[in-house]
Amino acid sequence: MNKVRFGIIGVGGMGANHLISLKQGKHAVLTAVCDTNRECADRVAKENQVKAFYDANTMYESGEIDAVLIVTPHFSHTPLAIAAFERKIHVLSDKPVAAQKADALKMLTAQEKQPGMKFGVMYQLRTSALYKKVKQLIDNGVLGKVFRVNWSATHWFRTQKYYDSGTWRATWKGEGGGVLMNQCPHQLDLFQWLFGMPGTVRAFGSLGKYHKIEVEDDVTAYFTFPDGASAVFIATTGEYPGTDRVEIAADNGTLIIEDNKIRFNRSETSVSEYTSTSSGVPGLWKCEIPIAATAISATEVIDAFAESILDPTKEPMVSGREGMNSVELINAMQYSMLKDETVAFPMDAAVFEQLLKELIDKSSHK
Ligand SMILES: NC(=O)c1ccc[n+]([C@@H]2O[C@H](COP(=O)([O-])OP(=O)(O)OC[C@H]3O[C@@H](n4cnc5c(N)ncnc54)[C@H](O)[C@@H]3O)[C@@H](O)[C@H]2O)c1
Repeated sequence: MNKVRFGIIGVGGMGANHLISLKQGKHAVLTAVCDTNRECADRVAKENQVKAFYDANTMYESGEIDAVLIVTPHFSHTPLAIAAFERKIHVLSDKPVAAQKADALKMLTAQEKQPGMKFGVMYQLRTSALYKKVKQLIDNGVLGKVFRVNWSATHWFRTQKYYDSGTWRATWKGEGGGVLMNQCPHQLDLFQWLFGMPGTVRAFGSLGKYHKIEVEDDVTAYFTFPDGASAVFIATTGEYPGTDRVEIAADNGTLIIEDNKIRFNRSETSVSEYTSTSSGVPGLWKCEIPIAATAISATEVIDAFAESILDPTKEPMVSGREGMNSVELINAMQYSMLKDETVAFPMDAAVFEQLLKELIDKSSHK
C-alpha cells in the first residue's frame, strides 16, 4: 500500500472542505463518501468519481477503504469510530473527538482492542506557523518559566439567527455544549499542547446570556497548574468584535499573540532574578518574532495520519488520546460553572456523564 484509501462520513458541511484537502494529500486517496442525506452523498460521489454510501457500516464492510474521516455532528463520532475500529478501519475524527470524556474513553478502548489501528483528530490549527513558533519558544526555553496565561477567545460573535438555523445547534442533546464545545476546541487543543494539562479549574459563566439558547455563551475560567502557573481562559459568542489574543507572562518577559503576529516584550534579565536582586524594573527589548507565512492545512493533518498508517513507527499529528484533553478541559469548565465547584484534573468522566445525561434529558432538542 503506498496510499491510504479514505472514506469520508458527512460531506454536507465541513466534510466538503476536508474532501478538497484530502485530495491534495500525498499519502491519501479518496475512494468513498458516506452521508445519510442520499442526494448529498450521490452528488459528491459523482463529482469525485468515488462510491457513495448512505450508511457507515456498509462503507466499512465494502472493502473500499482503509481509513475513515468522520465529519458528522459531535455525538455521532463515538459510535461511528467504535464501529470502524471493530472492522479494522483506522479513524481520523473531526474535532471535538467526542462530546464528553466518557465517550472518548470508549473510543480509545475500541482502538486498543485492535492492535495496529491508528486514531487521530483533525486539529488543523496545529499546522499554523504562528502556534508552531509559540510552541518552539516555550519548549526551547526562550520564554523561561511560564507564570501566567491570559487567553481571550471573545471573537466568536454569533447571532440568534445562527443559533436558530438548526434545531440541534446550541443544545445539550445536539452538541453537548455551546461556545466551549462548538467554537473553542481548536484553541483548547492548543492550550493543552502549549502548556500541558492543568491541575484544577474554577469556571464562571452563563447559559444563554446573550442568546435564547440552553448552553453556555459566556465563560471565564481560572486554571492552576502543578508547577504554580495559572491561566485565565475567556470565551463568548456575545461580544463584538471581541479579541483573539493570548498573553504569556514568563520569566524572560511577555509574549503577546494577536492579529497573526507574535510580539515579545523581552526582559533583559530573568524577571524572578531581578525581583530578588534589584530595584526599579528590568530593561526591555520589544521585538516582533518573524513567522513563516504558511496557511493552516488540513491536508497536513490528513497526510500525517496516512503516514502513520503506512509507517507504524509514526504517530498521527494529534492522537485520539491527546484529542481527549481538549474535551476534558471543556467538560471540566462546564461542570465547574454549573455546579459552582473547583474541578481537579484528571476529571472523573462518570461524574460529568451523569450531569450531561440530566442536561440532555431536559434538552429542547428532541
Ligand atoms: N476542523 C474544523 O475546523 C471544523 C470546522 C467546522 C466543523 N467541524 C466539525 O465537523 C463536524 C460536522 O460539522 P458540520 O458543521 O459539517 O455539520 P453539518 O450538520 O453541516 O454536516 C454534517 C453532515 O453529516 C451528515 N451526517 C450526519 N450524521 C451522519 C451519519 N450518522 N452518517 C452519515 N452522515 C451523517 C449530514 O447529513 C451532513 O451532511 C463536527 O464535529 C464539527 O465540530 C470542524
